[in-house]
Amino acid sequence: MHSVMARMNQMSSSVLVMGALLLVAVAMSSQWLAREPQLRVAFRRAQVVERGAGMRHRRAGSAQPQKQLVVEFDLEADFTQAWHWNVKNVYVSVVASYNTTQLAPEGAQRRASSTVVTSNGATSDDSHVVVEHHMVLWDRVISSQDEARIFSSDLRSKYSPRHSDGSMVPLDRPMTLHVEYMIFPVVGAFTFGSSALHAFVLNAEES
Ligand SMILES: *[C@@H]1O[C@H](CO)[C@@H](O)[C@H](O)[C@H]1NC(C)=O
Repeated sequence: MHSVMARMNQMSSSVLVMGALLLVAVAMSSQWLAREPQLRVAFRRAQVVERGAGMRHRRAGSAQPQKQLVVEFDLEADFTQAWHWNVKNVYVSVVASYNTTQLAPEGAQRRASSTVVTSNGATSDDSHVVVEHHMVLWDRVISSQDEARIFSSDLRSKYSPRHSDGSMVPLDRPMTLHVEYMIFPVVGAFTFGSSALHAFVLNAEES
């Protein structure tokens, strides 16, 4: 009786070990299967529109219609070659970035903020720091290979670029756009990456 139990224990643990090894092999194989996605984003134009100027807004009772920045862009994101059996879904986002400089706060405070990048090199100036602003304009979750190719001109930002305090971003400024992605697998760790930066000057028209 005892030896039967011991034998069964042994068998079930070797089944577990085999299973675990198989999962590792499977997760590693998808590293070799993976191909780089094709990614490209290009700025088209930007417009300031007034939101909530109609009845809905008046009923809501705010004093002023809200101004909102809408950014239009062309997007190519092709994950069909990057797709394989161990891809569960892909999160794609378009991110706009720009920099500002501001007076450096005193020592301790300066180190406290993770978004502050100390300026260096040519314009070396200890009293100023460069602050990078990153804003997600648009995103999508792709969950099958059939929809893994996005090829769109004239997409509009889903999320209006704003500062975290709600204020409007500057309407005339050098900016960049890029595509970011995260690939979530069935088994194993997720991977992420991003496209090259597309540089442009934001020059928003008031409508
Ligand atoms: C912001 O500054 C960083 C370095 O501090 C630079 O790599 C990046 O290209 C700048 N972004 C823009 C939009 O100019």
